[in-house]
Amino acid sequence: PALGVSVPHESARAQVAGRATYVDDIPELRGTLHAAPILSTVAHGRLRGVDARAARALPGVRAVLLAADIPGDPILATFSHDEPIFALDTVQHIGQVVGLVVADSVMAARRAARQVALDIEPLPHVLSAREAHSMQRYVLPPVTVRRGEPEAAMAGAAHRLQGSLTVGGQEHFYLEGQIAYAIPGEQDTWRIHSSTQHPGEVQHWVAHALGLENNAVTVECRRMGGGFGGKETQAGHMAVWAAIAARHCGRPVKLRLDRDDDFMVTGKRHPFEYDWEAGFDATGRLTALKLTMLANCGFSADLSGPVADRAVFHVDNAYFLSDVEIASFRCRTNTQSHTAFRGFGGPQGVIVIEAILGEIARHLGLDPLAVRERNFYGVGERDVTHYQMKVEDNILAPLVAQLAQDSRYRARREAIARWNADSPVIKRGIAITPVKFGISFTATFFNQAGALVHVYTDGSVQVNHGGTEMGQGLNTKVAQVVADELGIPFERVRATAADTSKVPNASATAASSGTDLNGRAAQYAARNVRDNLAAFVAGLDGCGAGAVRFAGGKVVTPKSERGFDEVVKAAYANRIQLWSDGFYRTPKIHYDKQTLTGRPFYYFAYGAACSEVAIDTLTGENRVLAVDILHDVGHSLNPAIDIGQVEGGFIQGMGWLTTEQLVWNAKGLLATHAPSTYKIPATGDLPPHFSVKFWHEPNREDNVGGSKAVGEPPFMLAVSVWEALRDAVASARGGGPVQLDAPATAENVLAALRQG
Ligand code: MTE
Ligand code: MOS
Repeated sequence: PALGVSVPHESARAQVAGRATYVDDIPELRGTLHAAPILSTVAHGRLRGVDARAARALPGVRAVLLAADIPGDPILATFSHDEPIFALDTVQHIGQVVGLVVADSVMAARRAARQVALDIEPLPHVLSAREAHSMQRYVLPPVTVRRGEPEAAMAGAAHRLQGSLTVGGQEHFYLEGQIAYAIPGEQDTWRIHSSTQHPGEVQHWVAHALGLENNAVTVECRRMGGGFGGKETQAGHMAVWAAIAARHCGRPVKLRLDRDDDFMVTGKRHPFEYDWEAGFDATGRLTALKLTMLANCGFSADLSGPVADRAVFHVDNAYFLSDVEIASFRCRTNTQSHTAFRGFGGPQGVIVIEAILGEIARHLGLDPLAVRERNFYGVGERDVTHYQMKVEDNILAPLVAQLAQDSRYRARREAIARWNADSPVIKRGIAITPVKFGISFTATFFNQAGALVHVYTDGSVQVNHGGTEMGQGLNTKVAQVVADELGIPFERVRATAADTSKVPNASATAASSGTDLNGRAAQYAARNVRDNLAAFVAGLDGCGAGAVRFAGGKVVTPKSERGFDEVVKAAYANRIQLWSDGFYRTPKIHYDKQTLTGRPFYYFAYGAACSEVAIDTLTGENRVLAVDILHDVGHSLNPAIDIGQVEGGFIQGMGWLTTEQLVWNAKGLLATHAPSTYKIPATGDLPPHFSVKFWHEPNREDNVGGSKAVGEPPFMLAVSVWEALRDAVASARGGGPVQLDAPATAENVLAALRQG
């Protein structure tokens, strides 16, 4: 069988050997030029003039391009149509791209770009979401979701607490930086190699900027060296810039951002600010919640609408909110335009409710896990979300109970309390937090996918689908699905590069739904070919097509057994179609964008993590000592890949909440724009004990192979680390509230310890 088996990632060998092809590895065509961006040095200002004389005089410089050189619309073809391709009359953040230098070499282009003098008259800038909110500066209108009577419930609550929270953003730090290579074809057609999660959108953006129809542009992506949401929209900018330069010069142009420039130019995870008030009873059960969420969106909308929406959808995390009001503001600041990042706003929703429940438990002197469990969605009661979706597949209670038992949570909690009592400087903490993550694009129309399956006359197979490979193993899983459908070994199936000329109008590979969508589309395509072969063989053997089985590389009927290759060859000779398309759209989903109500998600993925940490109360330094995870991937299509996704997602979440700190200085310069100052987790940060186990049930909804999406949900399991840190701080302070902002850097932990 090909499904449920840990076949190695289809390009793992090539990747570790350095033989896997990324955009920068494609042999350069003769005459290729290189582009480098000219960056704004002011956070907000009027762009009065650009003096490029010094840059143009440098050796190897071929062109300096500004907004006036754009052949088509100077505004990017984003949904909000609010982002200029090159700054027009104002600059909106330090690092905004004002234009390009095109030169014979990368270094010549970069050096010359630094020589372009910008005449900018500074205007007042706004950096924080709170400040933008106080001035009502938004990229999109606010959204409020409300259920029940939160004011009355708050007034009548036995206990009330309120608080504020600041949660920082996150740099994607994909190992392969942003890059595009634009190649002119005949009659003003273009082939773009792009490291993108969304080739179809890159195609559309490039066509729009060049003033062409989509059919003049083909975009290809063999793989990315990581995307993590950072290449969902923002890879499109590189492609548009490279294409404008290539069109202008009539030459192939490559644009590869240097790492520091990548930090300065591209958006991050949205930083959030929160103000909350909660009412609850003596057992810790929430009875009322009022929450204001301020998303720092940066200078343009980008994906901020759907990101902030998903944050609203995930404020419940695992918990029933009876009387609730959530107001979400999409604040416009003079920073990079913040964008998709693993979890897509979900983490920013989950963390605030976990913060609130942790505070309630400490306030009442109860075990935080008991308080969490008391607030879980019920089965058959208390099971409708604040956005009116019924939670039909709830496995929270048994899953968390299982993890608590396997990780010996209660015994360890007591042991930690005893240990802390004897340890004046180092304090330990422990926490279990759950995750319930909604799977599907909230924009319903994105939930469609197409695929092509080609069976060649030797019985080997190619599959192409609208998804992109960024390391997550999508191509491997899709090939497994096709192999399973045709009953042939995995090795006979090859997945080919995402290409807009093969499968058109494909959605972004995002929202963790790559396998759900493209896997199913490919399964349907393979099924069509199989049906053709079955009908052919049934005709030979005089049996019904339903009696023909495909397994183990064989085609078996009640009368005979033939090799798959033999059947393919004979079918070809008899003019049977050996290739097919497949199309899938997710059933059951719908939602009202205005009120944020409906069934935005096909199903939920669940999980829980138990994390134990230690803090040094003199320095604030902290370590994660032990992590146990129980996560729900349904029937895993590939356990090795899924474990990798859970581990990687968790560690990336841990980085967000502990060491990864973005600091914009008073001028609006992102001061942490390189690995010297921006700290992602390294191998030494792995918890010494790190166990990942899977829940045993298949997806209750009809999804490919009984699986569940895995890419993003585990990210939010890392909230357990942050909660464990708060537990340790509380222990050091002898109880009481804990004001710990994220990330929990040594400084922030120290501040929380010393809070008045
Ligand atoms: N895993 C790796 N190795 N690299 C990545 O860039 N991106 C994550 C996740 N896992 C990512 C990853 C994000 S943000 C998403 S939405 C999903 O993979 C996308 O792929 P999928 O839908 O096929 O799971
Ligand atoms: Mo993932 S943030 O949906 O690309």
